[in-house]
Amino acid sequence: MELNPDFTWQNSPIFVGSLAETLGPWLKEQSYSQILVLTDTNTYVHCLPSLKDLLPYPFHTIQIPAGEQHKNLETCAQIWQQLLHYKLDRKSLLINLGGGVIGDMGGFCAATWKRGIHFIQVPTTLLAMTDAAIGGKTGIDFQGIKNTIGVFQTPAAVFADPAFLNTLPNREFISGLAEVLKHGFIGDPELLSNFANLQPAVLRSLPWPQILIQSIAVKVRVVTEDPKENGLRMLLNYGHTIGHALESYFLETNTPLTHGEAIAIGMICETPAPHHTQVTQLLAPFFPKVPIPKETYNSLWQLMQQDKKNSSGAVRLAIPDELPYTMKVLDITEPQLGNLLQKYAVTEF
Ligand SMILES: NC(=O)c1ccc[n+]([C@@H]2O[C@H](COP(=O)([O-])OP(=O)(O)OC[C@H]3O[C@@H](n4cnc5c(N)ncnc54)[C@H](O)[C@@H]3O)[C@@H](O)[C@H]2O)c1
Ligand SMILES: [Zn+2]
Repeated sequence: MELNPDFTWQNSPIFVGSLAETLGPWLKEQSYSQILVLTDTNTYVHCLPSLKDLLPYPFHTIQIPAGEQHKNLETCAQIWQQLLHYKLDRKSLLINLGGGVIGDMGGFCAATWKRGIHFIQVPTTLLAMTDAAIGGKTGIDFQGIKNTIGVFQTPAAVFADPAFLNTLPNREFISGLAEVLKHGFIGDPELLSNFANLQPAVLRSLPWPQILIQSIAVKVRVVTEDPKENGLRMLLNYGHTIGHALESYFLETNTPLTHGEAIAIGMICETPAPHHTQVTQLLAPFFPKVPIPKETYNSLWQLMQQDKKNSSGAVRLAIPDELPYTMKVLDITEPQLGNLLQKYAVTEF
């Protein structure tokens, strides 16, 4: 059977569809010495069973605790420990079976193990299928700051099977929706039309295989034109400067936000007047207002100082100019950040 990827990025195929028809045949064409599957406690239960039977030779499994709070050096050390234990040589393959946390951290561990072994991304969340698994960014959080340590490394292949969405909890599904809508805002009005006036209750019954293709297409287009984020790739940071600060801040509280929840707030804050209503109307049904007390503004500002886009001490936002397709950068001060957060607080939805 001829294997036709839906996309190719940096010579590496991206497949959308059943693993039995994509990953299974693809693996048969490879010659790895052994396979190690990285899972978290949830993907071990919900996703590993449908992958196991497709692995053509002996394999081992690693299971790590689920959640962003484990995307750190300590967990990497546990993973490297297992790679050592199973004697992974440079002909081995690491399969990252999970959401963006597993993909980012497993990709980083593989990229640095013996100066780099092959890994494939098998994303199991909407967020990872549509965004995190594509584009070669790997990494971990360090001292509470998002994605501070990491490398660019292209996976050997990506396999997005929409069937995994069936077991995804609602809150995680909606988290991924934020990135899908982001792709719509920055690059595909037709993609957005799937969500106009949509009741959250029918979200899961949309044609997801098709929406995944539309959403991945935007990401692939952007990362093809600008793989190392020198310009256009900034588009993908829409909502993320304020969003990452919120995500880091709330991670330390009793009420953490998902990545998507944080960047949905970020997008509402970072969108200037001409597009503000459209963006807010599409996000509002899925992302109810989160109270952000004024006392937190300074902590958020401090967190934003660490953002990788900044230069010369200012905090740099990538904000929509002409949506879709163009963004511009804006350097802001602490009082201006306060104004943007205030704007979110007073917007009615
Ligand atoms: N590399 C990139 O370009 C990029 C882009 C966007 C986001 N990210 C990163 O991705 C991460 C967020 O990813 P995420 O939202 O997938 O989080 P996640 O990996 O924590 O997954 C969310 C939750 O869903 C569970 N889960 C995963 N698949 C499941 C399934 N099929 N059924 C049941 N439960 C399942 C997980 O165990 C976890 O509890 C963040 O760390 C973010 O920084 C990276
Ligand atoms: Zn994101």
